[in-house]
Amino acid sequence: MVVLGIESSCDETAAAVLADGYRVLSSIVASQDDVHAPYGGVVPELASRRHLEVIVPVVERALGEARVRAADLDGIAVTQGPGLVGSLLVGTSLAKALAWVHGLPLVGVNHLEGHIYASFLTDDPPEYPFLALVVSGGHTALYQARAPREYALLGQTRDDAAGEAFDKVAKLLGLGFPGGPIVQRTAEAGDPTAIAFPASRMTDGARDFSFSGIKTSVSLYVKRHGPLSERQTADVAASFQAAVVRMLVRRTLRACVQTGVKRVVLTGGVAANTRLRETLAAEAGVEGVRLHVPPPRLCTDNAAMIAAAGSDRLKAGERARLDLNAIPDLVLAS
Ligand code: KG4
Ligand code: ZN
Repeated sequence: MVVLGIESSCDETAAAVLADGYRVLSSIVASQDDVHAPYGGVVPELASRRHLEVIVPVVERALGEARVRAADLDGIAVTQGPGLVGSLLVGTSLAKALAWVHGLPLVGVNHLEGHIYASFLTDDPPEYPFLALVVSGGHTALYQARAPREYALLGQTRDDAAGEAFDKVAKLLGLGFPGGPIVQRTAEAGDPTAIAFPASRMTDGARDFSFSGIKTSVSLYVKRHGPLSERQTADVAASFQAAVVRMLVRRTLRACVQTGVKRVVLTGGVAANTRLRETLAAEAGVEGVRLHVPPPRLCTDNAAMIAAAGSDRLKAGERARLDLNAIPDLVLAS
């Protein structure tokens, strides 16, 4: 089965072709960082316009590199949500048009399920059941994947997503956009124990995350001590990153103990963070938890993960109708 995946939920226009479920024949990602960098964040209207400009060439390139003609595909998988509605509409419209013209089966994919399926595109795919920590620019949630396509939500952020916190702190420190990779690079020269940014505790004992407290502490520190020297900036970046990583790692490993599930998938844009990957790997090892982390290029937004999740759904007989619509607040599990 050869499946085309299309992803346009936020600020990456992506298309990929997969064979036999998880064999990647091509994967093209067109980043919009240059469009949004001057604003320090994603501007929805500009994102959808850029998607419109590049999505057809991106899909053509993905088909070309895979040496597959659209008419020879066995199906199309497209991100249906969650995401920015204008951005999602560009992908769903093209996917529907291609499905209609070539008479192909179509399936809508939840972007977060896509992130989880990135772990099946590696040499070390997880076995069910497993926990999945999905940390991205728009979402931070911990799921239990009980069986294929069967998820339960264990906890999620009550305010900012982890990636959003990285992006906002980068802006506070005047580092640029997107914040995650720049904060990581800046943190390399800093001391992660220099400043104690407090991680908020859930008074009701929930497994939820919260990052606005850490972000506010950084903002207060910058106001009180600014303008910061290069050394101080590096210390703030390192201490902030350490606080975020601590919260993510603790909540995840506690959920392993509580559920008795000893397999964890770490995925989403923030999973590209080296300190998070290394800390979770080390602490999971101590707890006897098996960790599966896709390579960074599969953790950030791409269409191979959408095609993988879609292939599974197509194989299971799922079909979307041509009135499939973008759902900006699509839920994976509750
Ligand atoms: O999954 P993704 O590509 O898009 C969404 O679905 O949101 O995640 C993007 C987010 C951004 O907030 C970006 O700053 C963050 O992932 N990110 C990182 C790193 N690379 C990307 N955060 C921390 N460290 C990184 N190395
Ligand atoms: Zn994403």
